[in-house]
Amino acid sequence: MQQANTPSLWLDRDRVEANIRRMHEHLLGLGVRLRPHLKTCKSMPVAQMMQAAGASCFTVSTLAEARYFHAQGLHDLLYAVGIAPGKLEPCAALMRSGCRLTITLDNLTAASAVAAAARQHAVSYRVLLEIDCDGERAGFAPDTKTLIQAARILDQAGCEVAGVMTHAGGSYHCRDRDCLRRAADNERDTTVLAAQRLRAHGFAAPVVSIGSTPTASFAGDLTGVTEVRPGTYVFQDLVMVGLGVCTADDIAISVLCEVIGHRAEHGELIVDAGWMALSRDPGNSDQDGQCGFGLVCDLAGGLLDGLQVRHVNQEHGVIADHAGRAIDLSAFPVGTRLRILPNHACATAAQYAGYHVMAADQDQNLYWERCSGW
Ligand SMILES: Cc1ncc(COP(=O)(O)O)c(C=O)c1O
Repeated sequence: MQQANTPSLWLDRDRVEANIRRMHEHLLGLGVRLRPHLKTCKSMPVAQMMQAAGASCFTVSTLAEARYFHAQGLHDLLYAVGIAPGKLEPCAALMRSGCRLTITLDNLTAASAVAAAARQHAVSYRVLLEIDCDGERAGFAPDTKTLIQAARILDQAGCEVAGVMTHAGGSYHCRDRDCLRRAADNERDTTVLAAQRLRAHGFAAPVVSIGSTPTASFAGDLTGVTEVRPGTYVFQDLVMVGLGVCTADDIAISVLCEVIGHRAEHGELIVDAGWMALSRDPGNSDQDGQCGFGLVCDLAGGLLDGLQVRHVNQEHGVIADHAGRAIDLSAFPVGTRLRILPNHACATAAQYAGYHVMAADQDQNLYWERCSGW
């Protein structure tokens, strides 16, 4: 770490392992299958750690991820972004190459496009109908007629109506454990209701797929759910700390940077990690806003009390004391190396082509590549 290029992205393998173990034990204890979301790590060695913990099916957020992970031997993939008609031919190509790909949709136009493409390409798309459980983003209302109409359109074209899925994005606004537990119960109840309606209309709909890291962490009863798709849990981040999902000691990625100057009149440090290195994600606006664009650690990973990245430009980050006290600049001469914990792990990791990997039992650093693009 003393010699590495800055800014660079570091992954603590022991923490990743612990995060995977904790989530997998929790969910397997609740009797559900895990379908981890790979959008956070986008890296095969991390997926292999999930496999070692028992995962055999996965979720992706781009077709680039689907192609990358399929080429590396993962064959059961859910592409969990509503399907764009223009992506149906690339999906068919993936399926023809042996990928058990499932797609999602939440409207009749998309259902008709999938039906038309199924006839045109002579493929049977496997589809989960997306349900809106909290008004946060996309999905059919669970009690709407169009849900059943979409299922019929797909079925008549020979597609497989595999079931329903949702993502409880609203859980990110919770401020206490009760709210998180309610969000988890609501995520379950909404999808189970939608699946029951499909079954009452003659569709098998065997899959009930839910998942966000906050609700997966706080779920206590998943009766009726068949699989859960957390993603951020693998690295954790400051948003998750703010929600009470984990502690800063669980965060498994950090950005290594170096002090390049001082703003002496303000008692602030300038480092070579701006938004290109950290992302511009301000974290969760519902939280107390004490993290700025990331919290600051020493090289050993110990949090430096009160220090946060207050401002970011493209390649500059300004580190200030949260309470407005002047930092003792003599403790951080130019050349000092620091590590920044991410607000949003997916966004920060996306700034890099790969991870420098550290672990307690490993002397030499490994480098694990990530896939990128769409
Ligand atoms: C469809 C879907 N499933 C699962 C997840 C995973 O949620 P989290 O990042 O909270 O683990 C996401 C996150 O955006 C998602 O969009």
